[in-house]
Amino acid sequence: MTAIPRTVSLLWALRSYCGSHQCKPCYFTWLDEQRVDKTPGLLSHFSPHDLPTEQVMAFARTLADSAVRRVFLAGGEPLTWRPILDLIEILKGGGLEVVVCTSGVALNQPDMARRLVELGVDGFSVSLDSTDPDYNDTWRPPRKDGDGWEGVVSGIKALLAARGPQARPRVGLYTVITKLNLPDVLGVPQLAADLGCDYAVPQPVALPEGHSLYDTLVLTDAELPLLEEQFDRLYAADLPLQLPPRTYPGQVASAIHHLTGAVEGCFGGDTLYFAEPDGSLWDCPSSLKMAATPTERHRTIKGADAAELFGKPSGCGSDCALFSVDCVNMWPLMDFDRVLGTTTSGSPA
Ligand SMILES: C[S@@+](CC[C@H](N)C(=O)[O-])C[C@H]1O[C@@H](n2cnc3c(N)ncnc32)[C@H](O)[C@@H]1O
Repeated sequence: MTAIPRTVSLLWALRSYCGSHQCKPCYFTWLDEQRVDKTPGLLSHFSPHDLPTEQVMAFARTLADSAVRRVFLAGGEPLTWRPILDLIEILKGGGLEVVVCTSGVALNQPDMARRLVELGVDGFSVSLDSTDPDYNDTWRPPRKDGDGWEGVVSGIKALLAARGPQARPRVGLYTVITKLNLPDVLGVPQLAADLGCDYAVPQPVALPEGHSLYDTLVLTDAELPLLEEQFDRLYAADLPLQLPPRTYPGQVASAIHHLTGAVEGCFGGDTLYFAEPDGSLWDCPSSLKMAATPTERHRTIKGADAAELFGKPSGCGSDCALFSVDCVNMWPLMDFDRVLGTTTSGSPA
């Protein structure tokens, strides 16, 4: 039997609830009334519809024989979900690459960092929005004392210590760029380099028009000159870590200028898919694309075999007319061959 080429990345928002932070501009709303809202793709931290653990594990076991090569575990906060280590063990046992997208504070739990390193997690994208603890903790308020900026940095240090001299896991910092922290795009990548991290990704805040924080946070055409200046400064600093490709700032600027529209060469539904906590499986996280997906094409990972779901492109093909601001943050995910230093066959370079 010919092996299926493993070309697919799955962004898996694993659980709705976030046990660590209450980020104000989060993709998941904290509004209780939206828990029953059936708008396709709408995410609520209070959703009662998350897949039961055994269904998550059953689907995870099928990934080993599928076209999926890399899983990004996000959420909610994946590391405060109790069965997370069992899930990662299944994924790694199935030969998948695993990148954990985390707030970072759970890495301070006794033995957590060591166990994750031993399980062979390939990458950690830790969220930190500023070098200024007050800014970070205002927009990413921790649920518990000690889980703010200082807790995140100590979690990163614990992870780097547990990794020791090994090349993996790769560790990076993700920063949400808003109107307010735009004047210092270089700050967090500089901190990442100082800590000994391997990559940094500044990503623009994505909020729907009408969101209460839209005017305060969302970048507009008025910010484009400063954005360009800040990205130029970032790349000119020549930090000893990986940044998104030099084409990325132009993609961000274009997405700010055209909030919706067409995107050439889209990978959604081809080499990238998006799974939600209730099991819904989408070609991509674009709210426009989800809304335009006919009900008969709604898919789920619940009870599904990954070999059937992936590897037969179901998306737009290449050029998509349903670009929305939600898409911008997918580009850096597609750069993880380079970040993880893997060849196209998935082995370490
Ligand atoms: C939804 S979180 C889930 C993982 C984990 N709890 C964390 O804090 O990283 C994944 C990433 O999305 C970012 N994020 C959340 N809402 C966002 C938004 N509206 N626009 C841009 N990025 C956002 C977070 O800052 C984080 O880096």
